[in-house]
Amino acid sequence: MIDWLEKVYSATGDIAQLETAYDGWAEGYDESVSALGYTNPALVSALFARLMPDVSGPILDAGCGTGVIGEILSLAGYEFIDGIDLSGGMLKRAKARGVYRSLGRAVLGEPLEIETGTYAGVVSSGVFTVGHAPASAFNEIARILKPGGVFALSITDPAFEAGGFGDAMIELEQAGVWAPAATSGSYLPLPNAEPAHRHPGRVYVLRKQG
Ligand SMILES: C[S@@+](CC[C@H](N)C(=O)[O-])C[C@H]1O[C@@H](n2cnc3c(N)ncnc32)[C@H](O)[C@@H]1O
Repeated sequence: MIDWLEKVYSATGDIAQLETAYDGWAEGYDESVSALGYTNPALVSALFARLMPDVSGPILDAGCGTGVIGEILSLAGYEFIDGIDLSGGMLKRAKARGVYRSLGRAVLGEPLEIETGTYAGVVSSGVFTVGHAPASAFNEIARILKPGGVFALSITDPAFEAGGFGDAMIELEQAGVWAPAATSGSYLPLPNAEPAHRHPGRVYVLRKQG
């Protein structure tokens, strides 16, 4: 059996390699992550809903994958959910759920073709991690949020340090771009994974100022 976690992490941020790996994983992704006890989508959705109870949105699911969060938020009543991802294979699975208003290929870390101040919320589960979306993408996320909009994302503790996500978050806070709105307790995103992939993490929620 292919060790997909190993495959996506061994891409070490090479976009073409990561895309190929996720395209290959797309069909069996939901089943694999269920077996690993994947908890990020539930935690990101719960904290997002606490801080953005207005369901009129719109919301962007950044790194939507097969659309697990889109389905949760749609069932919870959120009306307009868009998704972006670098993997065409994952986007195809997300489309099949029929819960997104629009879906498109985009690379977090590169400029996004989205107007400034478009979204009331951005959610991102399992995307800002080592070798995936970089901390530099926070600037674009902050730009596309409306003032008062919230960004809820999961980050594992090792990635928080090694990926520079903590520093990048604080930099934007000090620049008055956003303010911390909530942080979850510590949990295991993949409780049934091998020890090498069983790191604790948290969900962080930032609110755009202005
Ligand atoms: C672990 S999956 C998480 C998918 C979904 N959010 C979930 O929680 O099930 C990571 C997703 O992020 C996407 N991804 C990774 N790096 C990305 C980047 N720089 N830009 C856009 N998407 C990225 C991958 O293609 C993949 O679909």
